[in-house]
Amino acid sequence: MISRRAILTHGAASIVVLGSGITACGPGLGQAREPWSQAGTGYDDVRLDALSYAILAPSPHNRQPWLVQLDGDDGLTVYADLSRLLPETDPPNRQIVIGLGAFLEMLRQAAAQMGYVAETSPFPEGEPEPLLDQRPVARVTFVPSGEVVRDPLFAQALSRRTIRTPFDQKKPMPVSALEQIGSALTAQMTGFDYALDMERLDALKRICREGWAIEIGTSRTHKESTALTRIGAAEINENPDGISLSGPFIETMKTVGVLTRENMNDPQSRAFRETQVFYDKAINTAMAFGWLTTADNTRRSQLQAGADWLRLHLAATEAGVAMQPLSQALQEFPEMAEKYAELHALLQVDAPARIQGLFRFGYASAPEPAPRWPMQTRLIKD
Ligand SMILES: Cc1cc2nc3c(=O)[nH]c(=O)nc-3n(C[C@H](O)[C@H](O)[C@H](O)COP(=O)(O)O)c2cc1C
Repeated sequence: MISRRAILTHGAASIVVLGSGITACGPGLGQAREPWSQAGTGYDDVRLDALSYAILAPSPHNRQPWLVQLDGDDGLTVYADLSRLLPETDPPNRQIVIGLGAFLEMLRQAAAQMGYVAETSPFPEGEPEPLLDQRPVARVTFVPSGEVVRDPLFAQALSRRTIRTPFDQKKPMPVSALEQIGSALTAQMTGFDYALDMERLDALKRICREGWAIEIGTSRTHKESTALTRIGAAEINENPDGISLSGPFIETMKTVGVLTRENMNDPQSRAFRETQVFYDKAINTAMAFGWLTTADNTRRSQLQAGADWLRLHLAATEAGVAMQPLSQALQEFPEMAEKYAELHALLQVDAPARIQGLFRFGYASAPEPAPRWPMQTRLIKD
């Protein structure tokens, strides 16, 4: 697909140049975070205005797997960027489609805010199975409408964060907050449920820890993640995607050679142990778990799960609740099959229904926004 169309590289080139400039006068992530302050600043085209928000959607490993072609004066086509898949941790591309669903929902909400209905046809040339291919993920037409309903969740678009730090152990999650978050779902195709009782919390924490141990203990899945890890500001500004490690401690560890991608792959290294402990600590502080289910696992259901994933996250942000997906036990590589089955049995979700997302909830302060590629770098032209 990409060979047929040249990506507009202006944004990519400028980010590299400016990224080096920032590093020269001290590390900072200003450049990588700029798309958050550029959203909605006025592009003279409602599609670009809406896209400037859509690129802020969550995606697995922050892959930002979307490519967009503008069609005529009022349309656009969304494609999956096939160079941004996660073949080891996401063999059927399910998580990538969830990210694309979140992107389309953000696009829809932004369009509504500007008085347009984003009329969307998902997979207009058929659902790609067993893997994503070059066919479009969605065609969208922007139709002006005096009656379009603005989505109150849109107010949270710029504040939403994936929060990976430990959650406050003194602040229990009230049922009312979880009910409020769950009420954000619009579709009949997806369901949301949650657990607050000690017994299930303990069981879910154990499954998440064990799933995490399997992911980082399986060389090829762990290597997929370390290859996408950006260590320090210079690397992040150059490639504002993937897993970002930043801050003074990280820069020091990098400078003294303790933190390298090679070390992270070595189970005997400090970098590897730190990676395991960091995530385990986060899991252990979950004050509640929530999960998103679909009745089947078609591409359309995955896309809808992505829309509702974003809606849950925006509703959590509105309620002041921190949310982090814990996706390991849901992944479809063979070594994870036992954890996948255990999780579905515990939560009584029977095939063909499946859990599309598992999240921990609690309270914690929000970090700075995650890096993004500038919108222009996600546009393709003939
Ligand atoms: C399908 C999917 C799976 C994800 N799984 C995880 C996960 O297992 N652990 C995690 O910390 N974040 C996970 N994330 C969150 C992304 O890493 C996050 O959206 C991305 O880094 C961008 O950060 P932001 O959400 O703060 O904008 C997932 C996101 C999606 C859409």
